[in-house]
Amino acid sequence: MVKVTTPRGRMLSGITPSGSLTLGNYLGALRRFADGQPAQEGFFFVADLHAMTTPHDPKRLRDLTTETAALFFAAGLDPEYSTVFVQSHVPAHVELSYLLECTAHVGELGRMIQFKEKGGRPGTRASLFTYPCLMAADILLYDADAVPVGGDQDQHVELCRDLAVRFNRLYGDTFVVPRLARAALAARVADLADPAAKMSKSADQRAAGVIRMLDPPDVIARKISRAVTDSEAAVRDDPDHKPGVSNLLGIVAAITEEPPEDVAAGLASYGELKRVCAEVVVETLAPIQRRYADLLASPEELEALLAAGASRAREQAEPVLARAKHAMGLPA
Ligand code: TYM
Repeated sequence: MVKVTTPRGRMLSGITPSGSLTLGNYLGALRRFADGQPAQEGFFFVADLHAMTTPHDPKRLRDLTTETAALFFAAGLDPEYSTVFVQSHVPAHVELSYLLECTAHVGELGRMIQFKEKGGRPGTRASLFTYPCLMAADILLYDADAVPVGGDQDQHVELCRDLAVRFNRLYGDTFVVPRLARAALAARVADLADPAAKMSKSADQRAAGVIRMLDPPDVIARKISRAVTDSEAAVRDDPDHKPGVSNLLGIVAAITEEPPEDVAAGLASYGELKRVCAEVVVETLAPIQRRYADLLASPEELEALLAAGASRAREQAEPVLARAKHAMGLPA
């Protein structure tokens, strides 16, 4: 069966609704999805199935799925250029995931960081072991060429590439092999209270070092004003020796699109750095928060947008699934 040619520059990415989205999710991923428009065609989804690999609360999952989807649109994804959908609305993801489980090796799944970190706990869900295949399916179903993600997803995208190459070799040319699209800046926004750790949405909702996209301006300013720095009192970009200061500089740099050294050069003190950082973060998030509130005020509109997105996603995904099934010898 002949592979469909990929349209140039098709992006695909997903975000797991495992917590309220953070500034890290925005700068490392979501903003870049929106920036790719209209030059690139995009498929972006709320990865609800990925939120079930660890114990979860059904109501919270449902609420976070809606919140995340609304934030996709509020952050600027335009249905005219981008297909936005909820992963579980497109059953092909789960089907292809199984086919990929039949090409993946136990050894390579066991080497995935998430599994190495959490896999030894009693009651570990089998899906924590297999979900990298689901993530590969997410990507391959859309003949995606670029996968814009933050730095913590490298290993998963690499595995996806390995599985695609292996599948194509074993069963004939079926999948487009995607490339990783790393953020130049803000690939890893750190926790403000613990710059050695990633800013994570699954942290406690009250975590002092995690800025949420929906935090009110005073909360954002307070969190930034309490960010951990160092005792040197020199505003300088040096991630190895000054992780807290460099993190704040990186946030400003990612937003203003200036090199971090240039941002540092204009600032005399940590106090000034924190003020500027709070100012640009609040300014960036305010319009998104307004659009978010508008969208939540009309839930039918959001539902209709997601239904249209799911239908476009299914149209794209189903023929690719059919191609893979045929290649593996399953009946039409
Ligand atoms: P998730 O939901 O953990 O993160 C969503 C996106 O946000 C990026 N990110 C960050 N970037 C910079 N600094 C941070 N502190 C930070 N925290 C998160 C992540 O790198 C990611 O791009 N398994 C994926 C979701 C997924 C997916 C996919 C992604 C499912 N299927 C297919 C791409 C393609 C995840 O849990 O990301």
